[in-house]
Formats: sequence, structure tokens, C-alpha cells
Amino acid sequence: MTMKTMMTTQLENGRETQVLLADGLKDLSSHLGEYGRNVLWVFDTNTAKLFKQLPPSNVVLESGESSKTFSSLERILGAALDEGLARDGRIIGFGGGVVCDMAALAASVYMRGCRLTLVPTTLLAMVDASVGGKTAIDFKGMKNMVGSFYPASEVLLSIDTLRTLNDKEFLNGLAEVIKHALLSQNEELYKFLLIKKNEILSRQPEALTTLVELSLMVKKWFIEQDPTETKGIRQFLNLGHTFGHALESSSHYGMWGHGACVAWGTCRALEAGIAIGIGDKAYASGATKLFKSYGYEIDYRIGRGDWIEFRDHLLKDKKKADGKVLFVLLEKQGTASLHPLELQLVQHLVIAKPIF
Ligand SMILES: NC(=O)c1ccc[n+]([C@@H]2O[C@H](COP(=O)([O-])OP(=O)(O)OC[C@H]3O[C@@H](n4cnc5c(N)ncnc54)[C@H](O)[C@@H]3O)[C@@H](O)[C@H]2O)c1
Repeated sequence: MTMKTMMTTQLENGRETQVLLADGLKDLSSHLGEYGRNVLWVFDTNTAKLFKQLPPSNVVLESGESSKTFSSLERILGAALDEGLARDGRIIGFGGGVVCDMAALAASVYMRGCRLTLVPTTLLAMVDASVGGKTAIDFKGMKNMVGSFYPASEVLLSIDTLRTLNDKEFLNGLAEVIKHALLSQNEELYKFLLIKKNEILSRQPEALTTLVELSLMVKKWFIEQDPTETKGIRQFLNLGHTFGHALESSSHYGMWGHGACVAWGTCRALEAGIAIGIGDKAYASGATKLFKSYGYEIDYRIGRGDWIEFRDHLLKDKKKADGKVLFVLLEKQGTASLHPLELQLVQHLVIAKPIF
């Protein structure tokens, strides 16, 4: 076996997740083969194509967010029961964030909790969705409304799975990586993104391996400080998401990927920090340039006529105090804080000319 340990995260109640790096799909398959038959695999219609022949016990979900439902959960649980999976059996989620969230939620409730291995196959799932233990489905039109905390004991990474990912999905994950670079307690990831841009964009395997590792180290820091998101630390990982989600949910912007919206939202949050006098201007300007250098449409502004719809989506955000939406803002590298913003300022930031 040639799997290398990349990282171990310690969560509450002595639970830990081991992140292992495979030398390729073959190496990965032989590792997973060691689990024998007491396993159930979960794929989606795209990740199933990465296998010439699917393992015998499997569920293949339709690809995409629309699979994060009770009926997918029921399918996975039904298949587990039909296959005679015991409580010491294992669910293996092989796919992007949707498959990881579904497999993990199913594992958390199957016989009150069975074993769980995640094999993230998108950049987003590698650096974000597969670690930290959050599982969820969407419910009544609300994203991630029903779920649990159930960390995988094992996350297996095979960087070569990223080869088949399309550019939009790759950039979705990369936006979260850049966000991690800004939130990091050190500048290593930020500098790596500056220096290795060409290698990263051309998906050179060594560069991607380091990128994923450095990004995971940042996520690890946040989840270990605040494993169940109750201490107000982990929420800083939502940097850029309040602005970004409002843009993503507004009808005209459906074609923008989630990552493009997060990148845009992070830059609006940087500008908001300057506007209320807490942000370092030189840092915000540099970070905005970093996003631009990776091709994100940072200078984009919404049309005046779209403001009402944008505002209405913004007001649905879960982070609120005294009826005001709270935004994660960045003071400087690694220093985030939560602030209410006047709607007038938000309107100005999303409509007016860019300041950098
Ligand atoms: N649990 C968490 O902490 C957490 C964190 C972040 C995001 N999420 C969730 O993750 C989801 C988004 O994840 P995502 O961006 O990975 O989306 P996804 O799982 O829908 O994958 C994106 C697309 O890429 C395809 N795909 C996956 N791997 C591929 C590969 N190797 N080659 C070719 N195509 C491939 C998928 O079929 C899908 O069409 C959301 O539902 C979000 O809520 C969860």
C-alpha cells in the first residue's frame, strides 16, 4: 500500500479524520479493495464514469445539487439494507460535494452510524466538503437545511481525478482555496498562489497536491478550533458567501458558478472592510488582484434594476443580529470579524464603480 498520510484532523469526542493521498486511481482502488464486501459505494452519474467497471454494491445518483434530497437519502439507506450492510459496514462516497454530503448523511443515520470513507473528486470537495464533518440535504427550497455532524474516518485523495473536471468546476474550488489563503494564519498558501499560478491553472499534479494540502491545513485550523460551529470561529469560513450567495440566487446570475460568486463576494467584503474603516487597504488591493489574476470577474457590478432582488436574497441570510445581516469582513491576513452593514453601503458596493 502506497497511500501517504497528508493530514489528520482531531475533532470532538476523540473523533479523527485521516486524509490520505493516493498515487493514482489504481492505488486508491487497491486500498478500497481491502475493505472486502461489507461496503456500499455512492457515485453520481459523472463520477461513476471514472470506473471501467463499478463495484458490485453501489448507488449512482443523478449529478448535481438536485440530488441532495430525502429521496436520495432513502435510496442509499435502502441499498445499504438490501446489500445487508452491517453496522460495522462502510459507506464510500466517491464524488464531489453533493456525493460526499449524501454519503456522509446516510452513514450518520444508517443503524445509528456506520463507517464512512470519502473520496472527493472535485477541488471543492477536496479542500472543503470532505473534511469538517458537516453533512446535509436541501429541504423546502433551503440549502443544507437538514443534516448532521459526522466526520469521515478517512478521506482519500487522488489528484488525478481532477483531470476530468471542467474549468467551471475547477474554478469553483479554486475560489474557496483563495478564500482559505486570505483566512490563513500564515502567508504560505497566498504566496504559493502568487508564484505557481501557471502550474495551478494547467493542473500540474505536484502543484495541485501542494495546493490541496496547504488549503486543507487552513480548513483544519478552523474546524479544530470550532468542531461543531458553536464558537463563532468556523463561521469566518463564510467570508464572501453572504454577498456571493445573494448574487448566485438572483435570477440573472444562474450561469455564474458558485466559486465565481464567492470570489466576487469576497472582494465586496474586502471593500466593505475599507468602507467601515477596519480593513487594510494595501492588503485588500493585493487580494483583489490575486482573484483577478485567476480570471474571476471581480469588477462586475449588478444593474440598478436588479438591486431589489439582490437585497431580498441578502436578507434571507442566516447570520443576523437585531434583524441586520452580519457579514464576515477581513481586517488583514488571517484576521476576520463579523459586522452588520447598512443596506445603503451594501447597495453602493454592489452597484457603484470598483475602488481598486
Ligand atoms: N459538507 C461541507 O462542509 C461542504 C462544504 C462545501 C460545500 N458543500 C456542498 O458541496 C456541494 C458542492 O460540491 P461540488 O462543487 O463538488 O459539486 P458537485 O458534487 O455537484 O460536483 C460538481 C460537478 O462535477 C462533477 N464531477 C465530480 N467529480 C468529477 C470528476 N472528477 N470529473 C468530472 N466531473 C466530476 C459532478 O458530477 C457535478 O456535475 C454543495 O451541495 C455544497 O453544499 C459541503
